[in-house]
Amino acid sequence: MSASPEAHMAAEETLLLRVSDLCHDYQLPRRSLWRAPPRVEALRGVSFELGSGRSLGVVGESGSGKSTLARLVMALDRPSRGRVQLLGRDLHQLDAAALRAARRDFQMVFQDPYGSLDPRLTVERLVSEPLTAQAGHGPREQRRILAGQALEQVGLRLQDLDKYAHEFSGGQRQRIAIARALITRPRLIVADEPVSALDVSVQAQVLNLLQDLQQQLCLSYLFISHDLAVVQHVCDEAIVLQQGRIVESGPCSRLFHAPQHPYTRSLVQAVPRQGLAGLV
Ligand SMILES: Nc1ncnc2c1ncn2[C@@H]1O[C@H](COP(=O)(O)OP(=O)(O)OP(=O)(O)O)[C@@H](O)[C@H]1O
Ligand SMILES: [Mg+2]
Repeated sequence: MSASPEAHMAAEETLLLRVSDLCHDYQLPRRSLWRAPPRVEALRGVSFELGSGRSLGVVGESGSGKSTLARLVMALDRPSRGRVQLLGRDLHQLDAAALRAARRDFQMVFQDPYGSLDPRLTVERLVSEPLTAQAGHGPREQRRILAGQALEQVGLRLQDLDKYAHEFSGGQRQRIAIARALITRPRLIVADEPVSALDVSVQAQVLNLLQDLQQQLCLSYLFISHDLAVVQHVCDEAIVLQQGRIVESGPCSRLFHAPQHPYTRSLVQAVPRQGLAGLV
């Protein structure tokens, strides 16, 4: 956490992720030859720590920088400044081969279970994709076995390996996306609005699955949502982002029941009552 990281982490807990002073600007197209191209300051001095087996929520309204943070932590973009260290390695300093190998340890689940799964690929291909991206991956039969195991971990069946994404419901598709994230046996999963596109009843099932998996596999989550109720369901602690800066952080229960910052208060007020009833 940004304020006092050590205070929130048990002494024996392994530090998994350390994000230090992360900043990111997007350069927009130049509008005139005489002026500097405009920039969007998407992230400003974000720092926090995440222990092994823990989950940290990232909340904030649209445009607050949540997905930018996710992309930087996943090393999909380079930060303008700052560091992302996973198990002590600075991800943005690794060469291409080392980064590819390190990707085994961190995977991502995206918001849209419809758009994030290629409709032309079988579930087997989709789920084993992160393995095939690794150098020296095993033979196809071995990858199929691992893909089947990952499907069973998320409550789907071996027969589903030969189907296509369009044959599944939204909740089942998100389970396929979670199986894909699990297949490399990662330590960290970055989940960017993983249930926002789902019905409330299905949301609860997917959130419960994520919680069960966390306990079984000692996973850590960086869990992004605009909805504080959803974050509270899964996370011990959260950071609140406003315009790219952390304005408040702490245990979810405190953020929810005794928010200090006016912006956090407005997020709490924005939680729909029926959404809360459905989840908590
Ligand atoms: N590729 C890009 N080019 C330019 N500006 C961008 C780009 N991606 C994001 N931004 C801007 O950066 C800021 C942060 O965007 P980001 O997508 O990280 O927000 P977010 O919190 O994920 O929002 P949402 O809840 O809508 O997903 C916004 O002002 C956004 O317009
Ligand atoms: Mg986003």
